[in-house]
Amino acid sequence: MGKDGAYKSGKHNTGIKGINAMAGADLKKIVAVLKDKTHDLTDKLSDDDFQDLAMFVSKGQFDMDKYIDRKTKMPIGGDAAKGAAYYNTVCATCHGKDGAKPKDMGKSLGSQMGNPWEVMHKIVNGQPDEEMLSLRVFGMQPVLDIMAYIATLPKKKLK
Ligand code: HEC
Repeated sequence: MGKDGAYKSGKHNTGIKGINAMAGADLKKIVAVLKDKTHDLTDKLSDDDFQDLAMFVSKGQFDMDKYIDRKTKMPIGGDAAKGAAYYNTVCATCHGKDGAKPKDMGKSLGSQMGNPWEVMHKIVNGQPDEEMLSLRVFGMQPVLDIMAYIATLPKKKLK
């Protein structure tokens, strides 16, 4: 959402317009934008990377306001008890039962719920350049349940 989204103020603010308008656009058109002078990504990304990114922009965006309450920053309709079962089955191997691994994260998963949009993005799409899985194929309910549970985990700095 760019300048209209969660980063309209604060340290991540860039003032640039969002990418929502390109949802549904032709993949070739999106790749052409990613390769233009403004973005200057040609030396940094492979052809597969361009395809993946274009696919996300065209088909992967969804309206997070349906799922996250902007005021409380909580997932709408998330069940923390169900989320605990999912979390301990799927996420705890890498992130630890208390959400404090890996240390590179800087702060525990519990603390990350200050930015629930980023947390949701990562659960749905995975973490770039890491082994982390993407839950998109299971639909949104498990994601909401997991987020409701993560919000109950200890909030701590890791480094
Ligand atoms: C195979 C291991 C693995 C599994 C399974 C996994 N993750 Fe991750 N996840 C990672 C790694 C590695 C990172 C990157 C950590 C870093 O260096 O910031 C990460 C990053 C994240 C981040 C972003 C943290 C940040 O600093 O931006 C969130 C949120 C997250 N994971 C949530 C989850 C949830 C919820 C699940 C279960 C649905 C899950 N992960 C499953 C390995 C995993």
